[in-house]
Amino acid sequence: MAILVTGGAGYIGSHTCVELLNAGYEVVVLDNLSNSSEKSLERVKQITGKETKFYKGDILDRDILKKILETEEIESCIHFAGLKAVGESVEKPWEYYNNNIAGTLTLVDEMRRHGCKNIIFSSSATVYGDPAIIPITEECPKGTCTNPYGWSKSMLEQILSDMQKADPEWNVILLRYFNPIGAHKSGLIGENPNGIPNNLMPYITQVAVGKLKELGVFGNDYDTPDGTGVRDYIHVVDLANGHVKALDKLKENVGLGIYNLGTGTGYSVLDIVKNFEAATGVAIPYVIKPRRSGDIATCYSDATKAKNELGWTAQYGIKEMCADAWNWQKNNPNGYEE
Ligand code: NAD
Ligand code: WQD
Repeated sequence: MAILVTGGAGYIGSHTCVELLNAGYEVVVLDNLSNSSEKSLERVKQITGKETKFYKGDILDRDILKKILETEEIESCIHFAGLKAVGESVEKPWEYYNNNIAGTLTLVDEMRRHGCKNIIFSSSATVYGDPAIIPITEECPKGTCTNPYGWSKSMLEQILSDMQKADPEWNVILLRYFNPIGAHKSGLIGENPNGIPNNLMPYITQVAVGKLKELGVFGNDYDTPDGTGVRDYIHVVDLANGHVKALDKLKENVGLGIYNLGTGTGYSVLDIVKNFEAATGVAIPYVIKPRRSGDIATCYSDATKAKNELGWTAQYGIKEMCADAWNWQKNNPNGYEE
């Protein structure tokens, strides 16, 4: 039996493939490579000594889904495939809703037609909007999203929950990731954004490697200890391991499970700059800029439910997140391009 990993060539997907292979799973990847490189999967093989089976294709394409589900013995799907750039989603809402929502509807329809009704879905803390409770528990009500990307996650949570309710044969786990950063210790796989990064850590590592001049800090007048935004950064390898634990939970016929994957600790933008400098010895020049539209002041998790029900807690601290992000960037200044 194998695990279908959609979006498995991407940042979180490739790290999860490593942990799945290390845990003894067979892994089948479906990815259209719209935001990734097949080289990540070669690197996964280099790290683990084991191979993933790779299908280049789209979750919107029923034919390739049929082929995979008829050829491979898929027991469960970990569904990472999706577009994730917040700003771009505001410019291209149709493309985001089509890819993320129509794509997922196609995937789960083919899965159920082939009798495979176990799915782990990559959701996001973005579904809490401006959170009503800090730290955020899973009971915190979902909020108003500020962009189509966020809405696509929120709507897909609803769709998958409704499908599970109507057909209890489904096992659905929604994992709400906080802010994944860092990279595998080997420095062979990591985050590889196209163009100028939108997210904090890849921006910092590109300043450190000399590709960008300085970091712009988006606002220092928030109601936080130093005025800059506070987030729950989580090492991507911890996040990947959360998926292995979630697969164990699926096997218990969980029905519907919703879990935050975070560390439970919030760091400000300036905390991250200081920790990065301390962990790497590389100075990060920065300037204070206006707030970024759609940003909130504070977002960090209460991760107790994942600890109690999945037996999962984050192992890595902020120093390792910074050191490992830098190790990847400095060894691969242009990502997977030579
Ligand atoms: P990523 O872009 O590195 O990975 C997504 C992968 O999906 C890419 O390899 C891309 O080529 C593939 N893909 C996109 N659309 C596809 C389609 N229609 N068919 C087949 N493949 C397709 O992103 P990531 O950071 O690894 O994120 C993985 C998932 O986790 C996404 O669903 C994302 O929304 C979610 N998520 C990410 C974060 C984060 O900060 N990185 C936070 C919360 C949730
Ligand atoms: C973190 C902090 C910024 C860049 C996003 C998505 C969310 C999820 C994770 C997918 C904030 C500040 C950033 C920069 C800065 N993704 N910042 N200068 O916004 O918490 O979450 O990624 O699901 O949905 O919204 O992450 O890394 O962009 O920002 O000052 O150049 O860093 O204002 O306080 P965010 P981020």
